[in-house]
Amino acid sequence: MIVVLVGYMASGKSSVGRLLANKLGYDFMDLDDFIESSEGKTITEIFESKGEIYFRKKESESLDKVLQDSNRLVLSLGGGTPCYGNNMERLKTHKNAISVYLKTSIPVILHRVANEKAKRPLIAHLKTEEALTEFVGKHLFERSQFYNQADHIVVTDNNEINHIVEQIILKLY
Ligand code: S3P
Repeated sequence: MIVVLVGYMASGKSSVGRLLANKLGYDFMDLDDFIESSEGKTITEIFESKGEIYFRKKESESLDKVLQDSNRLVLSLGGGTPCYGNNMERLKTHKNAISVYLKTSIPVILHRVANEKAKRPLIAHLKTEEALTEFVGKHLFERSQFYNQADHIVVTDNNEINHIVEQIILKLY
């Protein structure tokens, strides 16, 4: 089985994914890390030097490759991965993959990303709190239609990481 975590930026996909993999005795992979090592650049550098369209193409190819070659894996996707091309469709039709949407509310996301905008190219240019709030609100609304297609949904707000992992495990078995 491949457990695929989807959700908006800062929804906890990587930290939850690591702990979940540990509890299941599975490997863990973050798709952004996979792209960074295959390209030899950080995500920010890829956006800057080659642009978002190039990044989305690599993201899609990387998803295919990982889904094809893996088993007993927890895979954390980037926030945009399920929302481009037919990535969500491919996840849903993959015989061995189960997707889980880590659902996080706007205030919690805003609180988490406020101090780390620099490493997130899609929001790095937003100068004011108002601009960030407006962007995240609209963006999450647009993306929710993709996230909501996941096999399971787990609300992460105010939940301790161990509790989130327990909830995911209960849904998997
Ligand atoms: C993106 C989210 C990022 C990364 C890239 C684009 C997005 O991943 O893939 O900056 O489109 O939401 P995280 O969700 O891990 O921050």
